[in-house]
Amino acid sequence: MGDLQNAGDDELLDLITTEDPRTMERLLLDARNITEKHYGKDVYFRGLIEFTNYCKNDCFYCGIRNANRKIERYRLTKEQILDCCRTGASLGFKTFVLQGGEDPWFSCGRVCEIVRAIRNEFPDHAITLSLGEKTREEYEQYYSAGANRYLLRHESADCAHYAAMHPAAMRLENRRECLYTLRKIGFQTGAGFMVGTPFQTAECLLADLRFLQELDPHMVGIGPFIPSANTPFAHYPSGNVNLTLRMVALTRILLPRALLPATTALGTLAGDGRERALTAGANVVMPNLSPRDVRALYSLYDNKICTGDEAAECVRCMSLRVRSFGFTPRMVRGDSLVPADRQS
Ligand code: 5AD
Ligand code: FES
Repeated sequence: MGDLQNAGDDELLDLITTEDPRTMERLLLDARNITEKHYGKDVYFRGLIEFTNYCKNDCFYCGIRNANRKIERYRLTKEQILDCCRTGASLGFKTFVLQGGEDPWFSCGRVCEIVRAIRNEFPDHAITLSLGEKTREEYEQYYSAGANRYLLRHESADCAHYAAMHPAAMRLENRRECLYTLRKIGFQTGAGFMVGTPFQTAECLLADLRFLQELDPHMVGIGPFIPSANTPFAHYPSGNVNLTLRMVALTRILLPRALLPATTALGTLAGDGRERALTAGANVVMPNLSPRDVRALYSLYDNKICTGDEAAECVRCMSLRVRSFGFTPRMVRGDSLVPADRQS
């Protein structure tokens, strides 16, 4: 497929939009080969802890947006979060991902206290945070408290498209700044976007790829948009699975060393969506470690999978799925091969 690392816009647009099965197959295979060159057949497991579904934001696509009064809200206590980590550690996880809405109750001080407690009990585990847009000072404090990684999807690198998905108070420029700041502080940083959000064009997706090339993040989360009840986008169609897979593959080709999760959203749209993502260049999965009684409440979109399973069942299920496609589940820290700006 030639040297796509230096591909021009037209060539990338053709690959984003191609409907030709042979071209698509070739693209996915190239992406898979690149992944194997750097990471082999290893698939890194991360334990996901969704610790609050309160959110002050009002993104038009998201089921836990502030204006959604129809959902029950929850917050895990520090002890509950630590218990999730303990369960995770006993299952073999070496990475914890703490994800939540932008919940002011979890002030910087409270987050740091939780991070320090986890760091104290699990000195060698990687701690990943995913709590949205914060100030540089807050990010620095999280880092000092012992967090190593931060996930903040940019959602869309096209200004007009970003504005069509978010209230005016949210600015693409600020999100970009946050990502550059995180990277500079020394976090292994994850960006990412949804595929098939309302008003998205192929040019928007091209902008996402160009932005990723510029940022050069350690991780990139890519999943299809799935409508969520009681949101402004509730009646728009879901993203397309094949287009999502092509975007995973193109991201792998342009950012050969990035870590790419096979996302839950892809698994929700297609029974074998996550496994297919692995064949398109993804190399990370994130089984859920949240307590079972709150799983369904972290409802970013409708029909989310894995809401009824205990952590151990999820891990077993995911390991089988990974193995059945010829990959090797790996319970390791799984650091990105993209160098950090500061050694952590
Ligand atoms: N469909 C798919 N993904 C969604 N996210 C939020 N809402 C939806 C939705 N309706 C994604 C966003 C966010 C991540 C945590 O979940 O990209 O960054
Ligand atoms: Fe959770 Fe399959 S991965 S039940």
